[in-house]
Amino acid sequence: VRVSVLLPAAGLGVRIGQGPKAFLRVGGKSLLEWALEAFAWADEVVVALPPGAELALPAKTVPGGQTRQQSVFNLLQAASGSLVLVHDVARPFVVPEAVQRLMEAVRKTGAATLAVDVPDTLVQEEAGQYGTAIPRERYRLVQTPQGFKRELLWQAHLRARAEGREYTDDAQLVQAMGHPVALVEGDRRMFKVTYPEDLLLAEGMAKVWTF
Ligand code: C5P
Repeated sequence: VRVSVLLPAAGLGVRIGQGPKAFLRVGGKSLLEWALEAFAWADEVVVALPPGAELALPAKTVPGGQTRQQSVFNLLQAASGSLVLVHDVARPFVVPEAVQRLMEAVRKTGAATLAVDVPDTLVQEEAGQYGTAIPRERYRLVQTPQGFKRELLWQAHLRARAEGREYTDDAQLVQAMGHPVALVEGDRRMFKVTYPEDLLLAEGMAKVWTF
């Protein structure tokens, strides 16, 4: 089975405020380079770049869209594999065992995502006050990569576009179409670099990372 890895890397990194996140450097490499190295085994890697960014990469590139979903739509159009893995470049530390687990599930079910437990107490905010606490054991934090049969994800994107809906990840899009998405145990080292302090954590991780 041909596997295409799709890397939406077109975000502007507004919450970190240091320019497009894909080009942020951690441990001497850009987040995009971390992802390209982690998925060097794939049959094909396609990257959605921010508008105006042109790079010589060992990968196909497509222009990013205004939202993550639009970037993934552009990526899917360029993907040739029958199986696709969508991975946020904002997660530089890709744990091979977790990807292995994910691939197994995708082959069996057609759609799967990595997810981890919620470590903290989860509570609803009600007008600045501590509202109803939510049983955290019933919730998961969703990570990437997420894996799908290409045709299934394509149909889900076409449908979301027709309905004018925007989702924050691809699993949600497939689930919204009524297709089950398997939850596979992720890994907390695959955290998403989102806020400035995440860069400190990432620099620490980069020092001990051996994959
Ligand atoms: O903003 P957030 O961290 O949720 O973005 C997740 C991923 O989606 C990032 O890798 C980002 O580069 C990508 N993205 C994109 N195109 C956009 C917005 C985000 O490829 N328009």
